[in-house]
Amino acid sequence: MAYFAPSILSADLTRLGDQIHEAVAHGADWIHVDVMDGHFVPNITLGTATVAAVRQATDRLVDVHLMVERPEPMLEAFAQAGADSITVHVEATPHIHRALQRIRALGCKAGVALNPGTPAEAVFPVLHLVDVVLVMSVNPGFSGQAFLPEVLPKARVLRQKLDEINPQALIQMDGGINAQTLPQAQAAGVDVFVAASAIFRHPQGIAAGMQALRRAAGL
Ligand code: DX5
Ligand code: ZN
Repeated sequence: MAYFAPSILSADLTRLGDQIHEAVAHGADWIHVDVMDGHFVPNITLGTATVAAVRQATDRLVDVHLMVERPEPMLEAFAQAGADSITVHVEATPHIHRALQRIRALGCKAGVALNPGTPAEAVFPVLHLVDVVLVMSVNPGFSGQAFLPEVLPKARVLRQKLDEINPQALIQMDGGINAQTLPQAQAAGVDVFVAASAIFRHPQGIAAGMQALRRAAGL
C-alpha cells in the first residue's frame, strides 16, 4: 500500500485550504506540515497556527514533522492544534524514548525521523514505540533539494527490523521524492511518500503532480 503525504511547505499559503482540497481530491492521504526552528535546521517555517488551519481544512491525517531542537515542551501544543501524528528527530533530543512516549500519551501517532547522516541503528531501541519511521532523503531545511539515493539501504534495514518487532509501523521518506525517485523508494520498502515541490510546484498543477506520483507508484 502506498500513501501520499503532500508537504504544504511549497503550497501557495494565500490559498492553503483550496490547495489542500485539490491535493485530497487527487489522492492525498496525509497532509505533511514541516515545522522548522532555525536551530535544528537553518530555516524557520510553520507552527501551531498553520497546523490548526490545516486541521480545519481537512479530515485527512495531519502529519506534523518537527525539525526542532528539544521538541518536548511543544508537543502538547501541536497535539492541541490538531496533529494526528507527530514526528521528532532522533538527533534533536537526548530523550527520544521519553518524547515518543509523550506523543502517544497525547493521543497521537508517534514518528521518529533520521537525517541522512544518521545510521539506522540509532533508532533500533525505540522502534517498538513508533507508528512511523521517517527516513530523510535530503538534509532537512528546504524543499526542492535533490534526492539522496544513499539513504535507500537504510530504509531497507529499517523495514526488515520493523517486520521483526513492529510490523504495523510505516516507513516514510521525505525529500526529493518525484515520479523518477519514488519507485526507488518504493522498492526499498517505503510506505508513505512525502512530496512538496513535485505536487505544489508541478508545472501543470497539483492534480497533475498527484497523478504523476500515483502512476509512479503503480496506482
Ligand atoms: C525538508 C522537509 C520536506 C520538504 C520536502 O526539510 O522536511 O518535507 O518540504 O520538499 P521536496 O519534496 O520539495 O523535496
Ligand atoms: Zn518533512
